[in-house]
Amino acid sequence: MALPIGEQSAELLKAQDLIWNHLYRFISSMSLRYATELGIPDIIHRHGKPMTLQQLVDALPINKGKAHGVYRLMRILIHSGFFIEEQICKDDAIMGYWLTPASRLLIKDEAFSMYEIVQACYDPIALKPWDHVKEWFENDDSSAFETTFGMSYFDYASRDSKENETFNELMVKDTQMLSSVLIRDCKKVFNRMKSMVDVGGGVGILAKAIADAFPDLQCTVFDLPHVVAGLQGTENLTYVQGNMFESIPKADAVMLKWILHDWNDEDCVRILKKCKEVIPSKESGGKVIIIDMVVGHKKDDHRGIETQLFYDLSMMVFLNGKERTEKEFEKLFFDAGYSGYKIVYELGLRSLIEVYP
Ligand SMILES: C[S@@+](CC[C@H](N)C(=O)[O-])C[C@H]1O[C@@H](n2cnc3c(N)ncnc32)[C@H](O)[C@@H]1O
Repeated sequence: MALPIGEQSAELLKAQDLIWNHLYRFISSMSLRYATELGIPDIIHRHGKPMTLQQLVDALPINKGKAHGVYRLMRILIHSGFFIEEQICKDDAIMGYWLTPASRLLIKDEAFSMYEIVQACYDPIALKPWDHVKEWFENDDSSAFETTFGMSYFDYASRDSKENETFNELMVKDTQMLSSVLIRDCKKVFNRMKSMVDVGGGVGILAKAIADAFPDLQCTVFDLPHVVAGLQGTENLTYVQGNMFESIPKADAVMLKWILHDWNDEDCVRILKKCKEVIPSKESGGKVIIIDMVVGHKKDDHRGIETQLFYDLSMMVFLNGKERTEKEFEKLFFDAGYSGYKIVYELGLRSLIEVYP
């Protein structure tokens, strides 16, 4: 068959390449999964220096005839930036596999490890809803999660204690890293504040870190009963259970970390209005502190924007939520009656936004 008129062969082949690349993107994700399941980052870390293929194969609990598979898995993971090849020692030309900052985050017991997050992404609860997206497009359900399991994600978590525990643990992992950056680099956000309520604050990792760093600040963690029931506070940290759509405890500032992206615009405006009811005026220091992605905020970060768009689809599939552009956030803030906002810090893929009553 002849090429379509006007079509250049290079363009056609590039188009084919784009399709192959997208079809096989899941292999990038699966490679990460196999590397963590096999414990490769831990093994190299324990070895303490670059490891040859043979040493790695010897240390892995696998059929030793599958060494070629380890070589190929490592080759793609090097290509993706998870490992590098380095000389084993200075005077030796032999090369071995070594860790990069990304694979260090996959070591099980390291501070800020993302090992559990990677594992949870391949749990059937996380994967099944993706098989029901076409059905969801055709029905009236609010999310593909609901199409799959017959209820919203948060209802599911309130009924399934194992899923509740897993989800809270994942939030803990994410928040541990973020709170340490926040305390180190974003101190001025908390200066002069006397009280703060972390709405949807999970088991309180962020609020605890802030309460410890600012002992004069009274912190409240506010979340659903199945999340905070039975948790013990400290002198300047209290747990309160409730529903943010009904009422929120009063404070100088409300923290909303990774909350608004769980909800549609209408629900976000309801949450923001509730927050506005409990904080003082802007002149008296009242503000809402939002930590969420601002899609496309770093215009030149092509990969970062792609990750934000992945997240956006994920929020759509699981929660009827979304990741928003600055314009979309602005509309929410003004619809909820706020007078202004400022994007104060960049925190990797996410931003810290202060919103003023
Ligand atoms: C994505 S998690 C974020 C948790 C925490 N802020 C963090 O970033 O680690 C969303 C949180 O909102 C809580 N949540 C959901 N619906 C809520 C409601 N109606 N009232 C209060 N909290 C709610 C969930 O239980 C969950 O802890």
